Amino acid sequence: MPTMNLVPVTSEDYRRIAERKLPRFLFDYVDGGAYDEATLRRNVSDFARIEPKQRVMRDVSNVTTNGMLAGENCEMPLALAPVGMGGMLARRAEVQAKRAADAAGVPFTLSTVSICALEEIASVSSKPFWFQLYMLRDRAIVQEILDRAWDVGVRTLVFTVDLAVVGERYRDVRNGIAGGASAWGKLRAGLLSYLSHPQWAIDVGIKGKPHTFGNLTKYVPAATDPSQYREWVGSQFDASVTWKDIEWLRGIWNGKLIIKGVLSSEDAHSAAEAGADGVIVSNHGGRQLDGVASSISVLPGVRDKIDGRAEVLLDGGIRSGLDVFRAKALGADGVLIGRPWAYAVAAGGEDGVENLLTAMRRELTVAMALCGVDNMNDINSDLVVARPR
Ligand code: FNR
Repeated sequence: MPTMNLVPVTSEDYRRIAERKLPRFLFDYVDGGAYDEATLRRNVSDFARIEPKQRVMRDVSNVTTNGMLAGENCEMPLALAPVGMGGMLARRAEVQAKRAADAAGVPFTLSTVSICALEEIASVSSKPFWFQLYMLRDRAIVQEILDRAWDVGVRTLVFTVDLAVVGERYRDVRNGIAGGASAWGKLRAGLLSYLSHPQWAIDVGIKGKPHTFGNLTKYVPAATDPSQYREWVGSQFDASVTWKDIEWLRGIWNGKLIIKGVLSSEDAHSAAEAGADGVIVSNHGGRQLDGVASSISVLPGVRDKIDGRAEVLLDGGIRSGLDVFRAKALGADGVLIGRPWAYAVAAGGEDGVENLLTAMRRELTVAMALCGVDNMNDINSDLVVARPR
């Protein structure tokens, strides 16, 4: 177990620091999952069952982790996943994470429900980023948000489909921040004490500051309180979405379209048929339906079903560069990380995220070298053995 003053290296190191630094309700919001958190745990533990196969006496003097994600060159096949309200974890945290992603040469994904708006993220640098969409009932708003995304240079849209209803996360319930208006009264009180520390200048419409709920601020009718924002967003989530809506999206979005939240071969097939450029095998980091399969356990089936028709990405449980190697070996074209960057930005801001990404890339390089491969295309299932649970 790392001691307090050691330099953080791993995702777990950042997690421990984040736990000390953040108020309980915010740490739990990031760290927790649905119900008993079985899927959340399995996402991580199923990676540990996959043994890399050590191979020797191959020329690995020139290992490169470079690869392609959604048609973009990346310094490793990893992107930062969308984390809603991620901007609360440090001052303008999404801006800090975007800067770190730029420095590490990997894509950053901005959530629909971010704190920092598309335009603010775009102002950080000219490097493109990805935007994640939740379908809203008011399609005119969706259209306008997508136009805004396009105008600031977004070319990859991540459409999240596993939130037809919001999963029950009991830590949030226990902390009093899940549920209706009274819960939001408690959150507001929690936020007020949190924000009384000058370190956290987060504009969430309290203490007389204007609301800056990222992308959606301008659409929320006359919100004077965070609870109104939350209620409006809740009422806008559209549970009636089907594969037919992809046609509509395709009609208004000219960039890449990646469907996030596929956990079965059947849905993977439907996504490919609907013309998605990619799918993200994901259970929302164990935050939606507890008990469902871990992402890594369903990856090979999804990969087979897609059969090259679309890119196959995966998130859920990636905690190291070695996990990136394992996911690649089992057929992922690339991966995303959610909590690891959230912990790192809370613990160490931009530097924290950049250092975490550097460490993960180093781990990936070492894993490749000691398994005898020097480039991404040569990582395949011969390089791992899956041990039974
Ligand atoms: C998320 N996730 C998420 N996904 C999404 O499509 N839109 C969102 O706004 C959010 N918000 C969000 C908040 C928090 C606090 C977490 C931890 C996660 C899910 C996220 O994109 C990703 O699927 C998981 O985090 C991946 O699992 P790991 O890497 O956290 O294990």
